[in-house]
Amino acid sequence: MKKIEEFLRSLTFNVRRDRELDLNRRGFVASTLALMGVMFLSSTPLVVLSKRKEATDLEMFIANQGDLEVGDSVTFGYPKESDPALLIRISEEEYRAYHIKCTHLMCPVYWDKDDGRLICPCHHGFFNVEDGSVIAGPPPRGLPSITLSFKNNGIYAVGVTQAQH
Ligand code: FES
Repeated sequence: MKKIEEFLRSLTFNVRRDRELDLNRRGFVASTLALMGVMFLSSTPLVVLSKRKEATDLEMFIANQGDLEVGDSVTFGYPKESDPALLIRISEEEYRAYHIKCTHLMCPVYWDKDDGRLICPCHHGFFNVEDGSVIAGPPPRGLPSITLSFKNNGIYAVGVTQAQH
């Protein structure tokens, strides 16, 4: 029994308090670095995905130029079917296209031909059909505009530009 007690005491005397503190500091630094690494890795895919979405260059047919009268519009999905968008013929030669999820709280925006503006009915948000900018209401920025391309009488969506204002 005495031998065991001596053995245990010798173990206790081997513990150096200064080294224990050192290990705690090392442990803290190691766990902080590990946490930073996990945070960095978990945010990387989101950054990559968001840049990809901005840089989409998918070409998608929307309509033929003769399909719309001046003032008419047609809905489509771009770049995915679940991304609602609107093509509007604003004059004989000009068309505009925008994503139509309101930049305030995502309500669907519609084109009011008589009013000449894009309107969000949820909180009375109004957008300029020329550039998608906010005219009035709570939306914090304009509608993302869809770049159009014209060939062989067809109208194609070829990219999305997020509004800066
Ligand atoms: S959701 Fe469009 S103005 Fe609020």
